[in-house]
Amino acid sequence: MTLPDIIIAIDGRSSTGKSSFAKLIASEFSFLYLDSGALYRAVTLFAMERGLIAVGKIDESSLNAELEAGLDVHFEYVDGASRTFIGDRCVEEEIRTLEVSSWVSPIAAIPFVRAFVDGKLHEFGSRGKVVMDGRDIGTAVFPDAQLKIFLTAAPEIRAQRRFDELKAKGQDPKMEDVVKNLEERDYIDSHRETNPLRRAEDAFVLDNSRMTIKEEVEWVRGVIQGKFGILE
Ligand code: CDP
Repeated sequence: MTLPDIIIAIDGRSSTGKSSFAKLIASEFSFLYLDSGALYRAVTLFAMERGLIAVGKIDESSLNAELEAGLDVHFEYVDGASRTFIGDRCVEEEIRTLEVSSWVSPIAAIPFVRAFVDGKLHEFGSRGKVVMDGRDIGTAVFPDAQLKIFLTAAPEIRAQRRFDELKAKGQDPKMEDVVKNLEERDYIDSHRETNPLRRAEDAFVLDNSRMTIKEEVEWVRGVIQGKFGILE
């Protein structure tokens, strides 16, 4: 199946399987994969390492100055997989810890941080043939994306997925911390003033609670066939 040079926007809450789904679509159709959450995570890691988050507070004016000076956050393909970089340092592992997760939503709620990440996404993705995942891709970053998908899954399934993911990475999370983090991020992401998480009206909704990844691919092929009329 060959697709035109479109933008595919995949939005949804934490641990609904957005990134696995987006990566699979990207490899299925030879598209570029852009993980917007990784950019928010990289900005958060940067702020933590620079000491801009201390005693429970974010030093917004210093962070703004650093972003305005041009923080180099980007993706590189390493051994066929997209990895997140700050300058020439690969931060793919560090940005996925629970510590970063605990600060990323407050950081992502700051309007100048959102403007910074949106700028990067436009720089990397506006030529099309790209799959992006996040919270506001179909509503705010690329509202004209030709295909929008909103993923959902049951809360207990999302928590188990995140728990298993952290374990597989050698971390030792407590289930109650994972659940708490998902609940907090859901709340902040859906209630912030700038571009909160919501489903775009023209998005296709997929609840993948009880689906295998193979079934998800079949589903998306069906949607694409229906929407673009492409037959193989
Ligand atoms: O952990 P998970 O994969 O669910 O989240 P992520 O996609 O890595 O995104 C981390 C956090 O960045 C989210 O909880 C949001 O607070 C924020 N985010 C956002 O505000 N807008 C986006 N387009 C993507 C992520």
